[in-house]
Order: sequence, then C-alpha cells, then structure tokens
Amino acid sequence: MHNRRSFQVSVISGEAARPNNAEMRPRERGRCGRRHRLTGTEGSCGEPPPYLQLLTSVEVSRLQWILVEDAAARSELVTRFVAGAGLPCTHLHVPTPRRYKRPGLPRATEQRNAGLAWLRQRHQHLPPPQPGVLFFADDDNTYSLELFQEMRTTRKVSVWPVGLVGGRRYERPLVENGKVVGWYTGWRADRPFAIDMAGFAVSLQVILSHPKAVFKRRGSQPGMQESDFLKQITTVEELEPKANNCTKVLVWHTRTEKVNLANEPKYHLDTVNIEV
Ligand code: UGA
Ligand code: MN
Repeated sequence: MHNRRSFQVSVISGEAARPNNAEMRPRERGRCGRRHRLTGTEGSCGEPPPYLQLLTSVEVSRLQWILVEDAAARSELVTRFVAGAGLPCTHLHVPTPRRYKRPGLPRATEQRNAGLAWLRQRHQHLPPPQPGVLFFADDDNTYSLELFQEMRTTRKVSVWPVGLVGGRRYERPLVENGKVVGWYTGWRADRPFAIDMAGFAVSLQVILSHPKAVFKRRGSQPGMQESDFLKQITTVEELEPKANNCTKVLVWHTRTEKVNLANEPKYHLDTVNIEV
C-alpha cells in the first residue's frame, strides 16, 4: 500500500492560448479560431476554458495540478482561475514556437515537457521512495472522479480505455490474464502503444529514473506522441491494466467544439470590457 499521507497525483495540462487581435496577422483578425484565447484583453473572443470545468469538478484529494499555459507569459485569466481553484496548482507557461502552430502537428509537446522538467527538478534531490503518479490531462477531455482513484495504485505505468477516440466509441488495451496483449482501436493499429494521452498514468519514480524521457517534436508523427513517449519508459508487457481489466470507460476524448461567434459585432459595442 502507498503511504497515504505523502501520496500525490500530479497532472499536467497543456493549454492553448491564442494571441489577441492586435498580435494577429490581418487575415486572422476577427476570426476566432479553435480553442480559447487567454492572452486576449481588448477585443478578445474565445470560449470558457474547459479546464475551469475540470477545476471545479475535481474533488480528488492529494492532487497536485501542474497547469502549463501555452503562452509567453501567465495570463491574468488563468492566474485568477488557479487562485480560486482550491487545490494545489503550479501554474507554468511556455509558448509553442510559431512554426509548430499548424494543423496536423503534435500539440502541447513543449507544455508537457515543461511540466516534466519542473517535476524532475523539484524531486531530483529528494530521497526515494517518492510516491506519486503523473497523468497528462488535456483540457478538453471529460474525466470521471473514479479515474483518479484507479490511477492511484499505479506501480510503473498503468493503462485503461478511453471513450470517443480513434473514430470509435472507445479504444482499449486488450487484456489476457492480467496482461496487455494488444489494442482494440480503429486507427493506426500499428502504433506500438495504440493509446491516447488520456489512457495512461506513470509513477513519479519512473519519471525520475528515466530523466531523458520527453515528448519529441522531431520524428514524431501526428498521433504518435503517446507511443513515442511510452517507448522510452516501458514495454507493453509491463503495463498495468486498470478499470476492471480495461473493460470500463472512465475518461472521454470529448474535445472542444469550435465557438460560434457569428453575431459578434465588428467593433466594440458594449459599455464594459469583459475578458472572456
Ligand atoms: C490528441 C491527443 O488527445 C492529445 O493528447 C495530443 O496532444 C494530440 O492529439 C496531438 O498529439 O496532437 P486532440 O484532441 O487532437 O488530441 O488535441 P487537442 O485537445 O487540441 O490538444 C491537446 C492539448 O494540447 C490540449 O490540452 C490543448 O489545450 C493543448 N494545446 C493545443 C496547446 O497547448 N497548444 C496548442 O497550440 C494546441
Ligand atoms: Mn483533445
């Protein structure tokens, strides 16, 4: 059993921020693209950040949240949310280089690596054992509370099904005699670990004992970030199935719907300025 007092779950969440109108190129101006814009002040348009929902719904004890904002600086908006979150939260930031902000390229690579670097730096001089489990939580998934309970018993790397992903109702690791023997997936079944980011957790000990394991830009094809990362720290044989031998869906790859701002006025009409 784990030492209950010192046990913690750490979560890294990549967060998309778009430049505000003034910083945007002319053809982008006024077009509110996907996801939220958190750095926008005047003339900003976006959507309520989904992680706000996460923040308010997470009633998980001993959870340490590492939130990494995709921005050159911490935005006021996120800082405020974090302050009122009522759970320990480390708010980091790192901007995705502009050349990587293109459709079809892996996302949140720099943000997850910043979170990993922070964790390693913070823990490297502490004596083992350092109980803890790391989970990479994107901001647009739906998480059940049960998921956080399941991942607490992770010894090295644990896995479970993810709903609404891979073009199917769910993807899941196939389990025989308590071991992962393959993958049920509708997309690129040739992936060494055919699993979404939301489908696994890693013990802090494994993160610390593989100090070079990071998410890669170079050579990483879209959708291969998970496999590339897992290959560096574990093997399929070693995986620990959770969620009743991977037969229960406790997390959903819901994604964020594109915002509809068709009726947003071209120029500021309201009497107040509200950051959204
Ligand atoms: C899928 C996986 O679920 C992601 O974990 C994986 O990062 C991604 O593919 C990929 O490899 O590209 P998907 O729903 O397509 O996810 O991607 P998003 O949810 O749009 O992005 C994943 C995370 O990156 C989110 O937390 C998002 O806020 C963050 N992000 C996205 C940034 O930090 N910066 C961006 O420019 C875009
Ligand atoms: Mn997503």
